[in-house]
Amino acid sequence: MRMRRIREKKLLREMTRETTLSISDFIYPLFVVEGENIKKEIPSMPDCFHFSIDMLEDEINEIVNLGIRAVILFGIPGHKDACGSGAYADDGIIQKAIRKIKEINKDLIVITDVCMCEYTDHGHCGILDDEGHVKNDETVKYIAKIALSHAKAGADVIAPSDMMDFRIRAIREILDKNCFKNIPIMAYSAKYASNFYGPFREAADSAPSFGDRKSYQMDYHNSDEAMREIALDIDEDADFIIVKPALSFLDIIQRTKENFNTNVVAYNVSGEYSMVKNAIKIGLVNEEIIYEILISIKRAGAKMIITYHAKEMAKFLREMK
Ligand code: PBG
Repeated sequence: MRMRRIREKKLLREMTRETTLSISDFIYPLFVVEGENIKKEIPSMPDCFHFSIDMLEDEINEIVNLGIRAVILFGIPGHKDACGSGAYADDGIIQKAIRKIKEINKDLIVITDVCMCEYTDHGHCGILDDEGHVKNDETVKYIAKIALSHAKAGADVIAPSDMMDFRIRAIREILDKNCFKNIPIMAYSAKYASNFYGPFREAADSAPSFGDRKSYQMDYHNSDEAMREIALDIDEDADFIIVKPALSFLDIIQRTKENFNTNVVAYNVSGEYSMVKNAIKIGLVNEEIIYEILISIKRAGAKMIITYHAKEMAKFLREMK
């Protein structure tokens, strides 16, 4: 057998391709901040910006014109406290952003990250006890409350990223009770305590002021444990399963797809993004590497990819045609 026969001609190579990328695979993250007239590049994340709500219109129109179907929102509030009250306030940054985006374009899918770390003054993803330990069941009540306030503001999909136990069930119950039966939950089920979140924590001002997130996010030495987390979340009615980060966790993406045959969403996180962008900038590798990376995530089994590269990839895919 001569394997090179099928590689000889470009068109035949294209026809035998097993994995493709399409613009509908991407979810683009957006950072919104309080204030006016702000479009400010995030120092740790080249080509990513903080937007104040009044500056969203051009950005949303550009995203839609590129063919991107969905955004995931992160908010940087004006005020932080111990219970992250800005996360569920009716006039909170995310609630205002959702309403504004829906006003600009009602069809763009708006996914909201549900967590407390950007809103608490201590930077942890929940309510703390006297020893500084995150209380699970107390936090879940807040997480459900945040999810409901996002749904009321018009969110299309709820994506809890806190990693508390039983939060999917609590969110499903509160949404169902409040006439939001048809709003899907995209669960960050296998979210690892990773070193790849550095640039995001700077962008979202959400680094914990003491300690780390290892008592709630997963230990990256483990893979079977991720399967148990995912099984529990599916049992609690998660509609989509997020694996995060993506690149050092392609094995987890593949196992999830094989074991659960569900919609796997890979989060190509900030550290992965910034490393690649900086490597391109200094001429170490060429831009096509972004395409190769995203293909690898799909080849592993992801159905969708949350990625800061979405806009540039949309342009790349257009030119490729
Ligand atoms: C909130 C959250 C984080 C990310 C997404 N949602 C940060 C964290 O857990 O510390 C990271 C995203 C990225 O690095 O791109 N909990």
